[in-house]
Amino acid sequence: MTRILGISGSLRRDSHNTSLLRAAVEVAGPDIELELYDGLKVIPPYDEDDDVHPRVVSVARLNAAIANADAVLFATPEYNASIPGQLKNAIDWISRPVATNVLRNKPVAVVGASTGAFGAVWAQAELRKVLAALGARVLDVELPVPHVHTRFEQGGLTDDEIRANLAEAVEALAAEIRGRERVKVVA
Ligand SMILES: Cc1cc2nc3c(=O)[nH]c(=O)nc-3n(C[C@H](O)[C@H](O)[C@H](O)COP(=O)(O)O)c2cc1C
Repeated sequence: MTRILGISGSLRRDSHNTSLLRAAVEVAGPDIELELYDGLKVIPPYDEDDDVHPRVVSVARLNAAIANADAVLFATPEYNASIPGQLKNAIDWISRPVATNVLRNKPVAVVGASTGAFGAVWAQAELRKVLAALGARVLDVELPVPHVHTRFEQGGLTDDEIRANLAEAVEALAAEIRGRERVKVVA
């Protein structure tokens, strides 16, 4: 069984990005267990003075969730042309120590949704940059979901093309885990 951890960069209850990850759970094959992380909100602001062992429970929990996953699928909104602060803050915590951080060599893929016309492409690009800087194996996947508020009804994804691209992104992660050729996803 392949274990993928889904991390949404949005904290709000009715987040479209979280809905996107829930849709990814539905399209994932039977040999993939995609679990959504729910603890991002309780991670404190990064302070190097607090970055001591044992680590704060919320950070230790995120660290363990990533360590126990074979790969991570991020779905990020775009806030002011960049990554939401709390997602970046969480990554800053788990980036330490850099040489042995839990994302190093971990296959990761980034998708994203926004209510605007560009589907969080800048946030996705910035998140890929940050993840690459930590040594993650960042897949050549981009899945912008523009006008996302028009693509869900009662929490369910109504856009078949997005669903297919999402399935490809999940499969690309699974293939990477299996050591197969990378798949490029273009929305
Ligand atoms: C603080 C803030 C900044 C935002 N900045 C952008 C932006 O730069 N580009 C964009 O396309 N949408 C922007 N939006 C709109 C988000 O795309 C929209 O709120 C989206 O639904 C957030 O994702 P979520 O549904 O997963 O919470 C912004 C929203 C907020 C709250």
